[in-house]
Amino acid sequence: MSIVLIGYMGSGKSLVGRDLAKKMKLEYLDLDEYIENQEKKTISKIFEDHGEIYFRKKESLYLKEVLDKHTDSVISLGGGTPCFAGNLEIVKENENTKSIYLQTSLDELTKRLFAERNKRPLIAHITTIDELKDFVRKHLFERSFYYNQADYKVVTDQKDANQISEE
Ligand code: S3P
Repeated sequence: MSIVLIGYMGSGKSLVGRDLAKKMKLEYLDLDEYIENQEKKTISKIFEDHGEIYFRKKESLYLKEVLDKHTDSVISLGGGTPCFAGNLEIVKENENTKSIYLQTSLDELTKRLFAERNKRPLIAHITTIDELKDFVRKHLFERSFYYNQADYKVVTDQKDANQISEE
């Protein structure tokens, strides 16, 4: 059985995923890292060289590959993965997979993302924290439609990775 973690950028999917995999003695996979290894480029460079549509195509392709090849794993998706190209359906139709939405508040996401926005091509251009908060508010509203279809949801505010993965 595989566990797929979904949630907005900065919700802690990678940190929690690693911890959860260790606790459950399962392999850990991060879809963004997998894409970077396969494409031999950072996510930012893929966006820069080929644009978002190319990235989304590759993301969907590699998601299928990861789900097919790694059947007993904890897999962290990218923040946008469940919102594009029928990816959520691919996850949900896979009988060996359970999905968990890591839900983090707007304030907490904004605080975390402002510090590390340079790594993320969708928000790298944003210069002020207010502008970032506005962007995240709208984006999160749109994406919540997909995130809320996960099999389970864990609220992550005021919890560390250990508490979240225990839950
Ligand atoms: C994205 C989130 C990123 C990465 C890419 C696009 C998104 O992953 O896949 O920059 O659309 O939300 P993280 O959620 O791991 O930052």
